[in-house]
Amino acid sequence: MLEQLEQQRTDALAELETVDDSDALHEWYIKYLGKKGAVTLMLRSTGQLPPEERANFGKRANEIKHLLNEAYAQREQAVRQQELAADLESDALDVTLPGRPRTLGGIHPVTQTHREFYTIWADMGFQVFTSRDVETDEYNFQLLNFPPDHPARDMQDSFYTTDDGVILRTHTSPGQIHAMRQLGENGTQPVRVILPGMCYRYEQITARSEVQFTQVEGLAVGRKIRMSDLKGTIAAFAKRMFGQNVSVRFRASYFPFTEPSMEVDVECFLCDAQGCNVCKYTGWLEIAGSGMVHPTVLRNGGYDPTVWSGFAFGMGPERITMLRHGINDIRYFWSNDLRFLEQF
Ligand code: DAH
Repeated sequence: MLEQLEQQRTDALAELETVDDSDALHEWYIKYLGKKGAVTLMLRSTGQLPPEERANFGKRANEIKHLLNEAYAQREQAVRQQELAADLESDALDVTLPGRPRTLGGIHPVTQTHREFYTIWADMGFQVFTSRDVETDEYNFQLLNFPPDHPARDMQDSFYTTDDGVILRTHTSPGQIHAMRQLGENGTQPVRVILPGMCYRYEQITARSEVQFTQVEGLAVGRKIRMSDLKGTIAAFAKRMFGQNVSVRFRASYFPFTEPSMEVDVECFLCDAQGCNVCKYTGWLEIAGSGMVHPTVLRNGGYDPTVWSGFAFGMGPERITMLRHGINDIRYFWSNDLRFLEQF
């Protein structure tokens, strides 16, 4: 028996040497020191020995149990340290590596143009006035002096809603009526606003036209506003927007809500007016529609047109953004392609 006991000790210690993870360690413990472990069982069988051997055997068995427990504790510590080291190594962290940069969004190129507009117009005393995207036929057309069957309505094909007479605005011009009615105090106060916003037209989508685009409208109403004010103001804007040396020209045109009406061109800033394919070799780029507010429109805004006058203009930020950056397809603005957007 004693020999067997010593053999167990030798085996156990030898086996413990080879244990190198906590699972194996646990198994080892069960095998020798657990409730049914080899050494435990031997210790328990002490009572079955002849009386003269019991004391000696029991003493030695207890010593061995104690010794194995100590060896186990030591091994356990070693294994735990080994495992900890392995863990640390596997999630090794190189604190000297530079951090991963966060990708930041950018400002959409058309929004950038809008913001430049707002800054310049604000410096000239124009406040931003926003009005609704969903309009009535009355505001979008009638109050702007488009008679019901006027062919100019066909200039802008509308998106109709299922509500009779309710449409998506085809231009920001209906905001002129809202601004005059809300800020003009029954035609007694001057108004100087820009009206930015989304416009919608039921059109074929092509490189040059989208069904959804923005406009920035301008409106100034006062007692002695003349065409020279319109020309000087637009020219001042164009010089800040496109360069101090840029020339501006006004071409007679037609809009129902202005009289007279003009289109505004600036010298082509892409070719220095030498002629290129963007300005179609004319040396000029169209940047706005404009005119003196039609007396009927003033009256619809609450003003007496014999006393009050005003000018208005409308610009297309998409078009201007395209001109400035040589973008040849308006659809890029809505395509959300990062390869495009990241360039601005
Ligand atoms: N509403 C016009 C359009 O969508 C643009 C325009 C032209 C606005 C002349 C104006 C203006 O205020 O005076 O084509």
